[in-house]
Amino acid sequence: MTNIVVVGMQWGDEGKGKIVDLLCPAFDVVARYQGGHNAGHTVRFGDSHFSLRLIPSGILHPEVQCVLGNGMVIDPAAFAEEVAKLAEAGVSADGRLFVSERAQVIFPEHAALDLLREAAAGSGKIGTTGRGIGPAYETKVGRSGLRVCDLGASDVEERLRTLLVRLESESTALGGAGGGHPVRVADQCRAWAEQLAPYRADTAELLQDAARAGKRIMLEGAQGSMLDVDHGTYPFVTSSSATAGGACIGSGLPPSAIGGVLGVLKAYTTRVGGGPLPTEDTGEAGEYLRKRGNEFGTVTGRPRRCGWLDLVAARYSQALNGVDAVALTKLDVLDGFAEIPVCVGYRYRGELLRRFPAEGRALAEAKPEYQALPGWRKSTVGMLDYDELPQAARDYVAFVEDRLEVPMALVSTGPRREETILRDGPPLRRLVGDRLPVPPR
Ligand code: IMP
Repeated sequence: MTNIVVVGMQWGDEGKGKIVDLLCPAFDVVARYQGGHNAGHTVRFGDSHFSLRLIPSGILHPEVQCVLGNGMVIDPAAFAEEVAKLAEAGVSADGRLFVSERAQVIFPEHAALDLLREAAAGSGKIGTTGRGIGPAYETKVGRSGLRVCDLGASDVEERLRTLLVRLESESTALGGAGGGHPVRVADQCRAWAEQLAPYRADTAELLQDAARAGKRIMLEGAQGSMLDVDHGTYPFVTSSSATAGGACIGSGLPPSAIGGVLGVLKAYTTRVGGGPLPTEDTGEAGEYLRKRGNEFGTVTGRPRRCGWLDLVAARYSQALNGVDAVALTKLDVLDGFAEIPVCVGYRYRGELLRRFPAEGRALAEAKPEYQALPGWRKSTVGMLDYDELPQAARDYVAFVEDRLEVPMALVSTGPRREETILRDGPPLRRLVGDRLPVPPR
């Protein structure tokens, strides 16, 4: 089996972009299956770096095809901007970037509503990226959304009337301006249809054909499992299925076509936006992690909330995703600590919880039960061989491996593509096959 899902095991920003980029040489197609331009990843190699929001980092590999799947919500203006930015940097997307004709379109009215809701929610706000993601998924499920294939359709104006009325009624109730006029927005839709035409495709069929032809597909999750609309810290979640199960729905590949799951886990925890974060450290340690780990949002620039590794959440995530192997990222950020607490349970109303609770209140009140592991206080930045790591760092990795009962196949020791330890062996080979990616050194 050759196709895999790469999924974030925490609250997003685990470093998936770097891992996907690193593994690209072992794959023919990289596809996203949910989310939109709320995602963001920075890929660094050599002296260059690239920030991508909608398009998978596979686009930086000329031999790789990239797909934006039907499960995504696409802002045509953001898409055009990203393609133009890539072209400016000499990266051509022509003939190898495909947008699902079934993907939903994000309208400016969706984004305006997102912002209005957040402003109205005061301290109870979700802390969304303000890109219209939630409203766009709502109109999708409410059956009034428009898909990429609807933009140039003859009934676009009529469809827009229904959509805009729905968005406008809530928007005006929240004190916003009215939505766009259907005639004007219909013109915009036709322009978008034209602009998207070179990329538009039946991407489900494209992926199914690729799988049948023996090509290797990597399905790239955006956000993280704890932000999944079903399994995450609801309602402080994104509005899509970020877990590995969402990969089939959002790409059109059947479950039988997926052969493995690589979980991406940061060596500590971060979250951006509101909602419970049991291991958050609002003191010096959290501040250190933020600075050293450069924990500021790629999309919004917001400082991320930081804390220690939460193994209760990670175990929950590992079970949900059926993770076969883990890429442990940003291990080097922990270099300076004499001692590293790791959360192994939650204390809630006198009880020790080892499972991840569904109730927001329990998560908000839960006190983490920490086990302190010795730090290594030596630089691991850029290390490439596992045996080169200080003993305490290897013990840290082994501890996580043991608690999650999954091998750590990759360990990342810096932001650059080449700063990664690849632990060659059956778990890694099972996921990447025999086209083992050898990072340029
Ligand atoms: P939305 O996806 O913009 O609706 O935001 C919902 C929640 O998901 C907020 O807490 C966001 O901060 C969070 N979120 C959305 N995208 C990302 C991401 O790519 N990384 C981390 N958090 C994200």
